[in-house]
Amino acid sequence: MPMTEPVVLAAAGAAVILDVSGPGLPRVLHWGADPGPLDEADLRALVAAAGGDVASAADGPLQPVGGMPLLPTQWDGWAGRPGVTGDRAGRWPYLRLARDGAVRVSADEVVAEGVDETAGVRVRAEIRLDPHGVLQVRHTLTNTGADEFSVAALRALLPLPDRATEVLDFTGRWGLERQPQRRPLGNGTHARESRRGRTGHDATPLLIAGTDGFGFAAGEAWAVHIGWSGGHEEYAERISGATAVLGGGELLEPGEVRLGPGETYATPTAYFAWSDQGLDGLSGRLHRMVRDRPSHPRSPRPLTLNVWEAVYFDHDLDRLTALADLAARVGVERFVLDDGWFPGRRDDTAGLGDWIVDPAVWPEGLHPLVDHVRARGMRFGLWFEPEMVNPDSDLARAHPEWILATEHRLPRPWRHQQVLDVARPEVADYLFTRIDALVTEYRLDYLKWDHNRDLLEAARDGVAGVHRQTAAVYRLLDRLREAHPGLEIESCASGGGRIDLGILARTDRVWTSDSNDALDRQQIQRWTGLLLPPELMGSHVGPSPAHTTGRSAGLAFRCATALFGHAGIEWDVSTCTEAELESLTEWATLYKRLRPVLHNGRPVHGDVDGVVTDDAAVFVYAQLDNPAELRPRRVRLPGLAADRRYEVTRCWGEEAAGATLTGRALATVGIQVPPLRPEQAIVFEVRPSH
Ligand code: GLA
Repeated sequence: MPMTEPVVLAAAGAAVILDVSGPGLPRVLHWGADPGPLDEADLRALVAAAGGDVASAADGPLQPVGGMPLLPTQWDGWAGRPGVTGDRAGRWPYLRLARDGAVRVSADEVVAEGVDETAGVRVRAEIRLDPHGVLQVRHTLTNTGADEFSVAALRALLPLPDRATEVLDFTGRWGLERQPQRRPLGNGTHARESRRGRTGHDATPLLIAGTDGFGFAAGEAWAVHIGWSGGHEEYAERISGATAVLGGGELLEPGEVRLGPGETYATPTAYFAWSDQGLDGLSGRLHRMVRDRPSHPRSPRPLTLNVWEAVYFDHDLDRLTALADLAARVGVERFVLDDGWFPGRRDDTAGLGDWIVDPAVWPEGLHPLVDHVRARGMRFGLWFEPEMVNPDSDLARAHPEWILATEHRLPRPWRHQQVLDVARPEVADYLFTRIDALVTEYRLDYLKWDHNRDLLEAARDGVAGVHRQTAAVYRLLDRLREAHPGLEIESCASGGGRIDLGILARTDRVWTSDSNDALDRQQIQRWTGLLLPPELMGSHVGPSPAHTTGRSAGLAFRCATALFGHAGIEWDVSTCTEAELESLTEWATLYKRLRPVLHNGRPVHGDVDGVVTDDAAVFVYAQLDNPAELRPRRVRLPGLAADRRYEVTRCWGEEAAGATLTGRALATVGIQVPPLRPEQAIVFEVRPSH
């Protein structure tokens, strides 16, 4: 029996309603708040309100009638970016998808197939609403024709209501990632595209459309994220006469995905979240989804010391063991040896690709250091940049053909390095063998996996290869994780250049930014935290002045900033005064006490920034600029249970009085804080009062 009533998928207050009755793919009638129970008459009324009968409106305007199909094309009356397009030797860019077979509906998922027999294309569209109200959309396209079909785009898009009037997204650069930009949603396409072959320092973790003035705590917002580390696009589009849409997908180069007969292309997952409680509501849903993944790191996030800004390329056993002693003294739990341990790597011009320990610098291998670190109760991590090669390396000399390039057309160098063609099985095998050997020999607990250049002209035999490369790198990571189940991996790309849910499906942490400047970090972490829960964001106490900006900040402020992530230290602590070492020790103890809250709670933002669980919270009141008035203020502490009483105590930073109040009073009346100078902070710990 054909299913005629619309399907409602609802979870955690969010819903999507799809009309599955038509001759084409399911049509989205609604995406947003859960309207609650609907009877048959309500559902029919919903279809009627969306324009009713699709067939009779075929001569209508450029607006899909009866809801937005999952993969709209011109045949559906859609003149915006098509859901699907491609060609067969220059023919068939315009597809007409007729539904094939019954729509499969379960409690949380709708799956439908569509086919264009003439063009020789079959698609499968999948939309799933997870228990946290996040929609996950995936499509596949199969070439059913007799010759090659080239896929140009296969997008996920959903309609936005007219009250979504503003767009917020993020841009940035090396050392200053995720800077917000906001604009009205007018007619046209606001697209964020990356052709960098990695997610990008300027990539937006979310592209968000919202109601007028939506903020952290208030307003309705709709967001998209593409879980992919290669080329990608996210966009909001409104064309004259039609509903606006929010969409995205993999950004493919011409000819990049050419399917032979019977071959299939699958999109990365597009994540869509809706909230009527502003941005904090969006991150609440996304964080719950991220934390629910089986692979999510659940053990306490070890306080880390990374030696990069302490020693750079100057690897010296005595110096490093002395650092390890001090690290252990202040309470560090994981020691990470960064770049510089392999042959020829005295600076960044040589050595990448030769993944063996440099016998000139490390005559006994890394063993003396690793043993020293382990003897002090710390875990050991090592830096790699597997996808890269310096032309000045034994690997590049032995295998120039392994470089991702078309014969003599070598891409322009970047940090003196080229990219390895990881999609060649022999390259992936080489990398696996070398990394596996080192992980085994040194029982490595942790890899810092770096990626320090964009992929430019990434082509083999003239054929674009970012898609292939991205998939191959994912396979390599999966293979290593399978071989070494306890191994943790950090995704770094000159700081925060590869942060997305595709790479995070096979890594445990990101290096949020190369900037350890605490003032910039306040912003970078706040906005990265829209997508990622704090326990995934590496945040280190660096030196003052900060190496990337030259800006100075007090230790208390630097520590307060680093607390709100997966904390660490990246500083030559041998230069610290005794008082500084004592402060670091105190801070390390505090981090360990607070991390169950910081790494399980939900971030909130308002007068203060905080992380709130059901029975505790941590808030930071930070002064980022020069205040207009120097007087005490009241700040509200949101998110706690209204009727419960809490004790608020200052646990870090400048002096401040505590309070004992109900959650309601904390969220409405708040507590008093003293005036602070720029780059001062107070951290409050909140526990139930007994
Ligand atoms: C990149 C990383 C840094 C450091 C250096 C080493 O820039 O982001 O943290 O590892 O490479 O060369």
